[in-house]
Amino acid sequence: MKNINWSDLTFGYVKTDFNVRIYYKKGKWSDLEISDSDQITMHMASTCLHYGQEAFEGLKAFKGKDGKIRIFRMRENALRLQDSCRGIVMAELPVEIFEAAVVEVVKRNLSFVPPYESGASLYIRPLLIGTSPQVGVKAGDEYLFIVFVSPVGPYFKAGFKPTPYAILRGYDRAAPLGTGTIKVGGNYAASLISGEIAHTKGYSAVLYLDAKEKKYIDECGPANFFGIKNNTYITPQSSSILPSITNKSLMILAEELGMKVERRPVPVEELATFEEAGACGTAAVISPISRVDDLDENKSYVFSKEGEPGPNSLRLYNKLRAIQYGDEEDKYAWVTVLDL
Ligand code: PLP
Ligand code: COI
Repeated sequence: MKNINWSDLTFGYVKTDFNVRIYYKKGKWSDLEISDSDQITMHMASTCLHYGQEAFEGLKAFKGKDGKIRIFRMRENALRLQDSCRGIVMAELPVEIFEAAVVEVVKRNLSFVPPYESGASLYIRPLLIGTSPQVGVKAGDEYLFIVFVSPVGPYFKAGFKPTPYAILRGYDRAAPLGTGTIKVGGNYAASLISGEIAHTKGYSAVLYLDAKEKKYIDECGPANFFGIKNNTYITPQSSSILPSITNKSLMILAEELGMKVERRPVPVEELATFEEAGACGTAAVISPISRVDDLDENKSYVFSKEGEPGPNSLRLYNKLRAIQYGDEEDKYAWVTVLDL
């Protein structure tokens, strides 16, 4: 076990012992290579540097009370990476190669998996980049797949405490027929300026509206959005948001907890009717939202007056975490237990 103060971890990069790499050249994926360096060298004309041929994923491994290590829904991440590959014309990484690389990198860094009691987890970051030189705008024919890990604490400093979000109507994250549904770096680049403005004004994140009409809620910078009212879990349907694996899981768990689930366009004014609201994702888990300020319209929507998460958000959070840490039966086969 490493000498890390696990419960003080934030969501950041910690150097670990190994990462894994697989190269795509001449139409073939190489064998997996283990590296102890966190540096890479590449051609200065690589397509990832100039034309954004870059996609990534995010998933987590958890150490249970029983000492076992569980990886949450990695097949879903493998499939979503394939969607990203198709979206920006990169070689499509087979699911089995993705899964084997994820398992291997966790096994090689066992001492970095935070202990059960800490509530922290091991974040796994798969990354696929175009590495062949190209000057004209054209897809490359060489790619590098890397998976590294980092032990992490909560994405937002407050952890599981409600924090405020902002709507900034002067900025879009993704266009309706653009790349919002895939996990490519360009979407995050587009969100940096509005994210910084929001942070400067004291907000945790931006809540984006649909870019075309500015009528409907899309998602947050690093997470999907949900609202809860009348025992119903409501989350946006949109052609410019990332299909969150956490959100998909929460929809199933909400039903199991006796709630109704609606996935549909959510008009921004509907914020006024929600009893609870939150951001959800691998990094965010559930990050409850205390208030959304629509800054250009001078409107505020308040969800949590007490500074505590709402009861349904709490139930969902506990249920999801219980499955991830192995405290509750994995009845949907979401979890891969490492064979150590
Ligand atoms: N939306 C965006 C823009 C994200 O970056 C993420 C994080 O991956 C999510 C939603 C949540 O997705 P998931 O639950 O699959 O991590
Ligand atoms: C994740 O939740 O895995 C994300 O990718 C969000 C953010 C760190 C980009």
